Amino acid sequence: MNNSIAILGAQWGDEGKGKIVDLLTEKCDAVVRFQGGHNAGHTLVVDNKTTILHLVPSGILHKNVKCIIGNGVVLSLDALSEEINTLKKNKIDIGGRLFLSNGCPLILPFHIALDKAREIKKGKGKIGTTGRGIGPAYEDKISRRGVRLGDLSDEKSLLEKITELLDYHNFMLKNYYNTETFNADNIYEKLLTQFQLYKNCIIDVPEYIDSAFSKGKKIVFEGAQGTLLDIDHGTYPFVTSSNTTVGGIFTGSGVSPKRLDYVLAIVKAYTTRVGSGPFMTELFDNDGKILSDRGHEFGATTGRQRRCGWLDLIALKRSIIINGFTGICLTKLDVLDTFKNIKMCTEYKNNNPVYENYAGWETSISGIKTYEELPKNAKIYIKAIENYLDVPIEIISNGPGRDENIIKNKIF
Ligand code: GDP
Ligand code: IMO
Ligand code: MG
Repeated sequence: MNNSIAILGAQWGDEGKGKIVDLLTEKCDAVVRFQGGHNAGHTLVVDNKTTILHLVPSGILHKNVKCIIGNGVVLSLDALSEEINTLKKNKIDIGGRLFLSNGCPLILPFHIALDKAREIKKGKGKIGTTGRGIGPAYEDKISRRGVRLGDLSDEKSLLEKITELLDYHNFMLKNYYNTETFNADNIYEKLLTQFQLYKNCIIDVPEYIDSAFSKGKKIVFEGAQGTLLDIDHGTYPFVTSSNTTVGGIFTGSGVSPKRLDYVLAIVKAYTTRVGSGPFMTELFDNDGKILSDRGHEFGATTGRQRRCGWLDLIALKRSIIINGFTGICLTKLDVLDTFKNIKMCTEYKNNNPVYENYAGWETSISGIKTYEELPKNAKIYIKAIENYLDVPIEIISNGPGRDENIIKNKIF
C-alpha cells in the first residue's frame, strides 16, 4: 500500500480536490499544502454539513490528522485567522494540529491592493484573479525582497524590511496605479501581534515529513488550483503564480521525490474555468447552462460563475505528460445524469475542438457504490476516457458528500 499520495487538479481547478483529500485522509498522519494560498476554495461535505477551506489543509475534519502549510504557500495571516475563527464557530478545533513553515512568504495588505490595481489597469485583458494578492506576493518572493513567516521573529530587521518593501511598492501604488499607499508601522505592529498567535506552530517541515515517513506514517500532499493554471505549464498569462503541477510538491514542501508513491489526478467529468483565458471546449448554449446549474458551478472563494464546457482530453493528455499521474479520480459524473448526448473533445482542428459523441445514461447515478451497478452508457463514457488517457480511473465521485464514491481500487 502507498505511504504518500499527491492529489492534484488536472484541469483549471475546482475539480473536487478537497473532497477527495478528506476522503483519503482518514488513516494518515498529515496533509501538506505546498503551493498557492487562500485563492483556493476546497469544499468538504460531511453529513450534509459544508466546510469550505482556503488555507487550512483538507485533513482538518479528521481529529488526528496534522495540517501542514509548506514553504511554497503564500500565507496571509489575516486570512488564516479568519478561517480558523470560522472553523471554531463550527466546532472544528485546529489546536495543536496546525503547523507552518518559517519559509512561507507573507501576503501583506499592499499585495492585495497591487493585485486589484493591476487588474483594473489591465481592463478587458485582465486575468480575472481572485484578488487575494497571490501574484504580487510570489513576485516579492522571487525578487528576494519578500517577508517570510520566519522573519517575524527578528523585530528589528522586520521593520527595516517592511519599510524598504513599502518604499518600492508605495511608489508604484501612488505614481503608477494612482491608488492608496500603506504605512509600514501599522503593518509591522499587526504582524508582531499575529506572530504571537502562530510562532508555536512553526516547524521544520522537511524534517517533519522525512521523519514521519521513516516511522512508516502516511502523508497526503494537497494541490491547489489545477495543472492548466500552472505558472510554467498552464495557459500563460492566464494562470496563477505558482507551480500547481507535481514539481511544486518538492520545492514547496521540501519532501524528496523518492518519498512520493502515488500521484492522483482529480478530473472533473466535464470542464470548468474561473477567470479569463483560453477554453477550447467552452459552451455558451443550454448544455453549458445545464452543467453550470446541475454542477452548482460557482467559485468557492469568490462566488464567481464558472465557465463550463465538455471534457477536453487533449488538455488532459498534456496534464498527464507533466504530472505522470498514477491514477485518476473522476468527479461530478452525476452532473451528467440528465444529458441525452455527451461530448468529449479528442482533437483540435483549425483551433476548434473536434468531439466524439456518447449516448447519455439519462438516469440518476447518485447513491451507486460499485462500478458494476453503473448504467451501461456511464461505463462506456468512463472506459472511453480511460482508454484515451491510458491511466486507470480508480475512484468515481458521484455526489458532493464524503461517502458518495465508487472506489474501484483502494489506493491509499
Ligand atoms: P476543489 O477546489 O478542487 O476542492 O473543488 P471545489 O470545492 O472548489 O469545487 C467542487 C464542487 O463540487 C464543490 O461544491 C463540491 O462539494 C462539489 N463536488 C465534489 N465532488 C462532487 C461530485 O462527485 N458530484 C457533485 N454533484 N458535486 C461534487
Ligand atoms: P482551487 O484550489 C479555480 C484562478 C483565478 C484566475 C487565476 C489567477 O479551489 O481549485 P490568482 O488569484 O491565483 O492570481 O488568479 O487563477 N484560480 C482558480 N481557479 N480554482 C482555484 O483554486 C483557483 N485559484 C486561482 O480565477 O483565473
Ligand atoms: Mg475550488
